[in-house]
Amino acid sequence: MAVADSDASRFEGLDLRDVKRLDDGSALIGRPDIDVVVELIGGIGTAGRLVASALDAGQSVVTANKALLARRGMELEQRARDRGAVLRFEAAVGGAIPVLATLAGDLAANRIDRVRGIVNGSTNFVLTEMSEAGAAYDEVVARAKSLGFLEADPSTDVEGRDAADKLAILIRLAFGAWPDVTAIRRAPPALRGDGPAGITGVTVTLIEAARRERLAVKLVAEASRDGAGVISAWVLPVAVPVGDPLARTAGAENRIEIVGHPVGSVAFVGAGAGGAPTSSAVLGDLLAIARGEGSTWAGLPPATELPAERLADGMDVARRWLTCDLPGEGGFTSATSLADLRARLTGSGLNATLFPILEGD
Ligand SMILES: NC(=O)c1ccc[n+]([C@@H]2O[C@H](COP(=O)([O-])OP(=O)(O)OC[C@H]3O[C@@H](n4cnc5c(N)ncnc54)[C@H](OP(=O)(O)O)[C@@H]3O)[C@@H](O)[C@H]2O)c1
Repeated sequence: MAVADSDASRFEGLDLRDVKRLDDGSALIGRPDIDVVVELIGGIGTAGRLVASALDAGQSVVTANKALLARRGMELEQRARDRGAVLRFEAAVGGAIPVLATLAGDLAANRIDRVRGIVNGSTNFVLTEMSEAGAAYDEVVARAKSLGFLEADPSTDVEGRDAADKLAILIRLAFGAWPDVTAIRRAPPALRGDGPAGITGVTVTLIEAARRERLAVKLVAEASRDGAGVISAWVLPVAVPVGDPLARTAGAENRIEIVGHPVGSVAFVGAGAGGAPTSSAVLGDLLAIARGEGSTWAGLPPATELPAERLADGMDVARRWLTCDLPGEGGFTSATSLADLRARLTGSGLNATLFPILEGD
């Protein structure tokens, strides 16, 4: 057994007797005495080369790398299948929450209609703090950075890219196809064009307008499939009725809901990140490989690549919208399609951002 980290200080305090210490994970690739490579480097460059070459060498791989899977999932799945190698990635979505293997296993007999959830604890922490303390976005983001909830460069989280990566992986397990993650909508629509991506346009004023309507603002990721096989997918700040369990999902917690037939609705709640919860998923994958359970998708048909025309942004339906960018219209809501709303209000000369209101089922 060997452990590699280019930052040797990460070994301090660990009992590594009988474990070889290396400074570069690539030294583990292709070695006949290494059956399984666990990639926890992150990023898509070095980690991507390492995972691809391990699979090509027939080694099993466990990874928590959602950015890599969301961008190269189709190719890595193909490599694993071609070489008969195992690729498991439970920790990539929902940290401790056992949702991927459950979709591929216990729920495999279902036709999945929708996956929806709060899959980024950092942004949920920011929105919860803004809502409970009435603190401004910049102030809360600075605090979240100092507490380690956000990276020094928080854009991957606050612009919704991390949540979109996780949604792409959920789409593969729920609907059998890898989507183009860059085509998943992350910016709420505006009267003209789009508003700011992810939670970057959420203000305390918006949160208070939502509260007056008995709504809470949450960054939600959703993918649903219609009868024609078109998948509508988005990651957006939406207004959720305060009684909805999504609205009550607080701080760094994650919640993932699955709707399917015949199962109905099931939900998973737990810590979405952090060393201890994430290690639960990584070690679970290692034990699954030891038991011979195969890849995370084992038992499901090989994935296809989702054609662009079968990926929609889900905005083109009649729904209520929340905005406070229209003077005198604080918390304005209107049950209408985006096209109708734009046609009716474009003459105002404003460019209000429109946040979808998620109605209860
Ligand atoms: N943290 C979580 O709660 C969590 C939850 C779910 C999934 N994940 C995923 O887990 C992965 C790792 O996240 P993290 O937060 O643990 O990242 P991290 O704190 O940056 O740790 C990565 C470590 O890998 C080292 N490294 C870089 N290149 C290497 C190489 N070629 N060989 C050996 N070691 C190398 C880094 O050293 P240097 O600093 O010297 O580069 C660093 O010590 C990411 O894909 C992330 O998305 C994390």
